[in-house]
Order: sequence, then C-alpha cells, then structure tokens
Amino acid sequence: MSTPQELPANWEKTFTATTAEQTHAFGARLAEVLQAGDLLVLSGELGAGKTTFTQGLGEGLGVRPGIISPTFVLVRIHPNLPDGPRPGGPDLVHVDAYRLGSAAEIDDIDLENTMDSAVTVVEWGHERVEHLSDSRLEIDLHRAIGLDGSAEASRDALDFDAEDTDEPRTIAMRGYGPRWANLPALAGPDGGAAC
Ligand SMILES: Nc1ncnc2c1ncn2[C@@H]1O[C@H](COP(=O)(O)OP(=O)(O)O)[C@@H](O)[C@H]1O
Ligand SMILES: [Mg+2]
Repeated sequence: MSTPQELPANWEKTFTATTAEQTHAFGARLAEVLQAGDLLVLSGELGAGKTTFTQGLGEGLGVRPGIISPTFVLVRIHPNLPDGPRPGGPDLVHVDAYRLGSAAEIDDIDLENTMDSAVTVVEWGHERVEHLSDSRLEIDLHRAIGLDGSAEASRDALDFDAEDTDEPRTIAMRGYGPRWANLPALAGPDGGAAC
C-alpha cells in the first residue's frame, strides 16, 4: 500500500505575489477554506515569505497575533480568538522543523495532540511531517529574482538589506490526499484569478 508521502499531488497551481502585502492577503484568503485537522507544509529559502504568509493565515483564522519566525522555539500555538472572524474555529499551530532531522524527532513534539483542533503549519516540513495526515497542502514560496543566474540577479538575491523592499514571489501550491481532491476556489494574491 502506498504511504501518503508517496502518492502524487492531485493538482498544482502557481500564483505570483508582487508585494509582501499580497503574500499576507493570500494567506488570509486561504484561511477561509481551512479547517481543524488541516496540515500545511511550507518550503522556501530564508526570506522567501513563509512567515509573512503564515501571518496572513493567522489573521484570516482569527487567532492570537504575534506570529514570528519560530527560530528558537519549535512550536507555537496561537489560540482562536472568540472575537475574531471565526469564533470557535481552529487554532493555529506554527512549527519550524528546520532543526528537526527526521520524522522520528517530529513525533517527539507530539503534534498529533493538537492537530484535531488546529490548522498545523510547518515551515521546513518537507519529508518530515507527511506521515502526520493522509492529506496536506504543500506551499512553496520562492524569490522570483536571481533565478536567471546573472551576477546582478545573484547579488540582489543575497542582499538582505533589501529584504523589506517588495519583490515578486512565486507561490506554488499542491494538494495531496482526499481532503484536497479538488483545488479550492481561491483568488490569486492580486485578487484576480489564479494564473
Ligand atoms: N512579495 C513578497 N512576499 C513576501 N514577502 C516579501 C515580498 N516582497 C518582499 N518581502 C519581504 O521579504 C521578507 C520575508 O520574510 P519572512 O516572511 O520572514 O520569510 P521566511 O519566513 O520565508 O524566512 C519580509 O521582510 C517581507 O517584507
Ligand atoms: Mg520564517
């Protein structure tokens, strides 16, 4: 029998977010279709926008604010707020799996406990958390610049002083398992249809 991690994606869709605000807003819109038990696996280099996207998710879910890059804390639980847009809705569990070498180490932090009542978002979760659920959304964020390999593009990509300057990001989304049999109805980051 195939394990969930071996099954192919049901669909893949790529979006472009021209600004950090668009990436944030895209997360907030995705939150509207999420429910307790959902697992999201985020990939992308440092500064790609994983945390910006997760902050948008948190806003859309109406959970306690204060989402930051969980660099020194492996797991943060943001409880759903009774006066938010989705009272009684899911909490947000935000995980940084960067330092966790294996699926076994993931099991040590016991995400199963919170998964049923939360949307679980794992930065750097690829090949570490797939076993936690039979379904998942994979979301890859990448800086759109620097990919042509030119000296100028590489310099831009490494210039972290420019981090707060808006630059385009590509956001590739893939759905796995029965929960994500179909692409959710979702406008792209610029509010228009997906490209
Ligand atoms: N289109 C964009 N989408 C997301 N972030 C962007 C964009 N353009 C510029 N940025 C900036 O890039 C940085 C992304 O940081 P962050 O979300 O912490 O990334 P990660 O969690 O992937 O390391 C922020 O400073 C943000 O303002
Ligand atoms: Mg981050």
